[in-house]
Amino acid sequence: MRLPFSLMQEESRPSVLVVDDVSANLELVEAVFLRAGYTVHMALGANPAIDIFNSYSIDIAILDVMMPGINGFELCKKLKSLTDKFFFPVILLTALNDKKSRITGIECGADDFISKPFDALELLTKVKSLLKLKELHEELDHSENIIFSLIVAMEANDYYTKGHSTRVGDLAKEFGSFLGFPEKELEILKKAGILHDIGKIGFSENILRKPASLTEEEKKIVRKHPLIGESICRPLLSMRSVLPAIRSHHERWDGNGYPDMLKGDDIPLMARILAILDSYDAMASIRPYRDKRTVDYVLSVMKKEQYDGQWDPELTGLFLQMVSSAAIAGEGLA
Ligand SMILES: [Fe+2]
Repeated sequence: MRLPFSLMQEESRPSVLVVDDVSANLELVEAVFLRAGYTVHMALGANPAIDIFNSYSIDIAILDVMMPGINGFELCKKLKSLTDKFFFPVILLTALNDKKSRITGIECGADDFISKPFDALELLTKVKSLLKLKELHEELDHSENIIFSLIVAMEANDYYTKGHSTRVGDLAKEFGSFLGFPEKELEILKKAGILHDIGKIGFSENILRKPASLTEEEKKIVRKHPLIGESICRPLLSMRSVLPAIRSHHERWDGNGYPDMLKGDDIPLMARILAILDSYDAMASIRPYRDKRTVDYVLSVMKKEQYDGQWDPELTGLFLQMVSSAAIAGEGLA
């Protein structure tokens, strides 16, 4: 049997998009990458580059800066906006060596620079290192997506809890925005909301869907889920920011919660927020033993119990304010 010459098929080779307004320059860069086993796409200017980008799977772009019409800075910005949900590396290839151009390049999102005339080895080394970084980003995204999918799968078979974690995640983002948190922290809050009950993943359905009250032994098992959730997410660096929220979302303001019996402000802020939203969604959802409750009814219960020790009373007040103003404006909550 004849073996293939290379295990690396055409579609699995890294593909590079090279953009320049001078075809001789394109050919120089092309030669370097073809020799190194890359798939090369070339574009004489920004518009054909965007067409190629939209038609092929491109791993990295190398852009000349000085081009007529849309220059390399603007094209870099455009490519970055088209790829804002994942990491797409861009190198600017420029004769401009001054500080101001590099600052403009960084502001436009460029990941690295190469000066003209370029050194082939330096260019290849920078491309390889950025592709490695891209690979790491993708692995991280996959790991996160697997964990998010586990949550959806866990809730999917249960009519009563279906969508609970996603709703708490959306609500967390909305409440965070109401409280004036910056965008980056809203994403952390959303992630924490989605993941707060991940620790229930290994529990038997007999416990999770039991229509009657849990026995003391079953309660002990269920109370382990914040710690189990924390240990599931701990190995992932990108989950570090949500670990305190997962661990402490069942703590109570009066210190009678679990697992650490933290009290008041000792409970991490994100966990105090989730405790309110978790209760709100659970109360508003349909259950085997009762129908869905109206928002007004749930709000009246929360208002009555605002100072009873379960939740941070100030945050609860702000949450009630947000829900009431959304109701007055005729807007639904997440
Ligand atoms: Fe929980």
